[in-house]
Amino acid sequence: MTRTSSITIAVIGCGTLGTSIVTGILDPTDKGGITVERAITTVATESSKQRIEDTLSQHASRLTVLLRQDNLRAIKDADVVLFAVKPVKRKDVFSAPGVREALRGKLIISIMAGISTQEIIRLALGDDNTSYNPLQIVRAMPNMAAKIREATTLCTADMEILSPDNLQIASWVFNQVGQAQFVDESSFDISAVLVGCAGSLLLLAIDGLLDAAVAEGVKRSEAQKMTVNSAIGMLKLVPAGDHPSVLREKIASPGGCSIRALLELEKCGVRSAFTGAIMAAAERSKQMSKS
Ligand SMILES: NC(=O)c1ccc[n+]([C@@H]2O[C@H](COP(=O)([O-])OP(=O)(O)OC[C@H]3O[C@@H](n4cnc5c(N)ncnc54)[C@H](OP(=O)(O)O)[C@@H]3O)[C@@H](O)[C@H]2O)c1
Repeated sequence: MTRTSSITIAVIGCGTLGTSIVTGILDPTDKGGITVERAITTVATESSKQRIEDTLSQHASRLTVLLRQDNLRAIKDADVVLFAVKPVKRKDVFSAPGVREALRGKLIISIMAGISTQEIIRLALGDDNTSYNPLQIVRAMPNMAAKIREATTLCTADMEILSPDNLQIASWVFNQVGQAQFVDESSFDISAVLVGCAGSLLLLAIDGLLDAAVAEGVKRSEAQKMTVNSAIGMLKLVPAGDHPSVLREKIASPGGCSIRALLELEKCGVRSAFTGAIMAAAERSKQMSKS
């Protein structure tokens, strides 16, 4: 059996996203020739341990849930180690005795927001830069849609260092919860902002649309269903080949309602407001990567 066909994976910090990822990778549906022999997850509290054991009880034979004091044990037993703790916890986790040594030779995947590959290398090597042996690292940015296995996960790695086996494993992990998309690290921060924040801006727009419908007398639950479903349908036309601007022009028929609504938004500067919001988020992301 090759390493890529059957793996043991440790998820250090199995909270909201970690649980979605473990749920996806334990699914027996084969999307790429890899099976998880065992998933080992770690959390900080007994209540979270119980939550994972309950949520994933159908996979109990392949799942071990440990507390944070057993991070080292989880890492030692795994081929692949996925770090999903909050960024603020990273130093505690990596500097615990034995962790850095245990990581050698393993595929390290980090989904910690704002933590660059260089920073992950520093965390994983500590002061021991003398025995530098290129680490197998994939930095990734999934989003909450991993819960329904529809996340677009941005990934970046040094392709001259990452082995083909590890590239396959990392892609497989995120394909299990949606779709992995590799980008160069130079465009990772802005791409991560699009993947991570753009959804929340669109949700704000949906919220505004719902308020209008309620003001006009439609029940919020009904308005939500029709607005969200029609938005999903319209958005799906874009990957099917329709350019957003062309689509918008096609919808806005002469003298119609859509053009009136669009002009109203243009008056408020909505387009540049969206641009400004994403650029502000990108700036913040760059600061976080540097700090
Ligand atoms: N949420 C998002 O939309 C999103 C998107 C992209 C990237 N990210 C990144 O993904 C990571 C996880 O985010 P999340 O929303 O899943 O956070 P979360 O729900 O707070 O999960 C973090 C988990 O880490 C556990 N933990 C804390 N200290 C630990 C330690 N020393 N050792 C092992 N486990 C420890 C916590 O345990 P307890 O539950 O017991 O406290 C918790 O289960 C973060 O780095 C975040 O930046 C999040």
